[in-house]
Amino acid sequence: MFLQSPPFMFRFLLFLSFSLLLSLPQSSFAAAKNWTPTGHKLVDGDTFWVLDERGAEVKVRLIGINTPESRRTGRTEVEYFGKEASAYVAQLLNGRRIRLEYDVAKYDRYKRTLAYVYLDNGTFLNAHLIQEGYATVATYPPNVKYSDTSPNSSE
Ligand SMILES: *[C@@H]1O[C@H](CO)[C@@H](O)[C@H](O)[C@H]1NC(C)=O
Repeated sequence: MFLQSPPFMFRFLLFLSFSLLLSLPQSSFAAAKNWTPTGHKLVDGDTFWVLDERGAEVKVRLIGINTPESRRTGRTEVEYFGKEASAYVAQLLNGRRIRLEYDVAKYDRYKRTLAYVYLDNGTFLNAHLIQEGYATVATYPPNVKYSDTSPNSSE
């Protein structure tokens, strides 16, 4: 009966795709809406602190990209262009709200929140930093949702 009724099937598919359209953005952003970068606590171009909706500080690591190190730590040296990259990101995030989207793994082993970040004007920050030359592509499975959009995704 299901298959013998094309109008019903058509309406059902229409309804299904419409509800998917409506539900997708909401579900990807539901866990983290309009978070506020703390500004003063920028770690690196690809890692920074934000305040979640309850005012708790969360350390975010952008997925799929890598910016040069801007600070010397026990593990790393300051890299060429590192300070420029983090200054650029600090300026982008300053006074704005951002939206986070997650991939398969939500945290890394340093307990950072792994996220795709959108600025309040819709700019996809992860891709923007690559386009502007401040970051390189660096994908770590399983978080590869957008990696096929990049020519260097096999690296
Ligand atoms: C959003 O803001 C960024 C950073 O200021 C800018 O580069 C980009 O062009 C803006 N995008 C739009 C659609 O206004």
